[in-house]
Formats: sequence, structure tokens, C-alpha cells
Amino acid sequence: MPDATEPSLAPSVLPIRLACFDLDGTLLGKPDATLSFQRAWLALPEGTRPVLVYNTGRMLADSLRQLRRTDLPPPDYLICGVGTLIYRRETQEVVQEFSEIMSGGWNRAKAVEVVTQTTHAVPQPAHFQSPFKSSWYLHHASTEVIDGLRAALETAGLQAAVVYSSDRDLDVLPMLADKGNALDWLLNHLDISPAEALVAGDTGNDAAMFHLPDVRGIVVENAQPELLEAVLTTRPYMAHAICADGVLEGMKHYGSSRKCPLRSPRILVTTGSLRRSSSSSSRLPPTS
Ligand code: GLC
Repeated sequence: MPDATEPSLAPSVLPIRLACFDLDGTLLGKPDATLSFQRAWLALPEGTRPVLVYNTGRMLADSLRQLRRTDLPPPDYLICGVGTLIYRRETQEVVQEFSEIMSGGWNRAKAVEVVTQTTHAVPQPAHFQSPFKSSWYLHHASTEVIDGLRAALETAGLQAAVVYSSDRDLDVLPMLADKGNALDWLLNHLDISPAEALVAGDTGNDAAMFHLPDVRGIVVENAQPELLEAVLTTRPYMAHAICADGVLEGMKHYGSSRKCPLRSPRILVTTGSLRRSSSSSSRLPPTS
């Protein structure tokens, strides 16, 4: 069994070339575990480390602030605003090709109108909003209410994704956004298949990552019931530990069955949309 500080990321099938983890409630939320994750990650020999991606509901500036304040290892990419923006740390640039595909079928003003007419949702503060992210608070919404909103948006001619998390947060996004679609786009962009990716999360907005075909998933112990329910059929690894301790446990799980060398990523520069058609207990406060 590998030591917790030196996890082998060798999976049973294909080597893991990209790891995409949520921040709040997953890598963050238990500072000593975040530090253990950092140490474990940096202990992986350079050149064999998978591409590291953080996939968060936070906006870019806030995510960068969090990176400076915490013990997280520097990622290669940040997916921010619930899959509405991709940032490459090496060049310190937003990936424009991804931003350009967001606008198709999207009309923010119309989305706001439909949400207001269909639900009792209250807008989140302005700093949680962006041209491609309309975020609301809607406590204890039933599946019927969320499905009703989806139907109303469609009737209004909008191609929008509706993401409901933590029994409270409602995000209405362009159809090509959400954490799973953004990760899928990035995987295509880097010429890495979902079967070579490992994801981890704790709330509903993480579910879309687990639904990429053959992706390997880790659900941390403190996950919200909505995530468990949404990803059960994908047979993720259910960690017994919370936050980053759970991620480390999952990394060990996927690395324990067979030793495979990690492959360095082949970074291909591609343009345009290369989308692939793809088919509890909670001891911590709701996060994203
Ligand atoms: C983060 C974002 C918030 C969003 C939530 C769920 O908390 O700040 O706007 O609604 O994640 O995706």
C-alpha cells in the first residue's frame, strides 16, 4: 500500500494523464488535508505528474486569490464559474477558444426573465454573476421545480444548462458550459481521453464531470446527497475520508491495483470547439 504522502496514480486500465478536482469541500475545507495533498502531489516525479486542473464554482479572480492563500499545488489549468471559463496558468491567460463557443444559443437576459417568472429564486450577489453565468439562491427546490425550469427555458428557445447544488445554489449557464462540458472541452483540447482522467467532487455542480464516459471518479465522504444520487450509476470511488483526505484515498485506490508509469501529457494546440459527443453524510457546510 503506498504511503499517503506518495500516492501512486497508476490506474488499473489506462494511466491517468489529467486530474480534475473541485476546490471547496473537496481539496479545500480541511487545511491539514490540503497540505497532505500538496505534499503528495509534489512528491510525484516531475514530468510524470498528470495535468492538474481545479474545477470550481468560484470566479477567476477569487480562485486565484484562494490559490495564493492556501497550500494547494499550482494547477496547470483552472476551470472557473461552474465551467464557464478556462484559464491556463503557464501563460496566465483565459483560453479564448473555449470562451468563444459559449455564446451559441445563449441569451442571459432571457434566462433571467425565465428564472424570475418560473421560480422564487433570488439572485446571488453581483460578484457571482458573469455574462455566461446567471446564479441564484433557491432553497430546497424539488426535482419538479428544476425540471420545470429546464422546460421553460427550452420553450423560450434558450439552450441553457441548469445546475442545482447544495440544495440552494441554482446556476443557469450556456448549454456548452458546466463543469463536465468544460472538462470535456479541455480534454479534447489536450488530446486526452476521459478514460485517462480522474475527477473528484462533493456537490451537485461536480456531477457532470463524473458523467464523462469512462472517467474515474472520487466522491469525498462529506459529499452532498445530491451528488451521490447523481453519480451512483457511474460507480465512483466513495471515499471514507473527508475533503482532500478523501481525494488522497481515492488516488490510492485507483493507483493500488497495477503499477503503470504516468505519461506526460501531449499538449496539442487546437482551435475551435472540438467537443466529443458523450453519451451521506455531510459534516461540512454546502460548498461548490
Ligand atoms: C459557487 C459559486 C456560486 C454557484 C455555486 C454552485 O459557490 O460562487 O455562484 O452557484 O458555486 O455552482
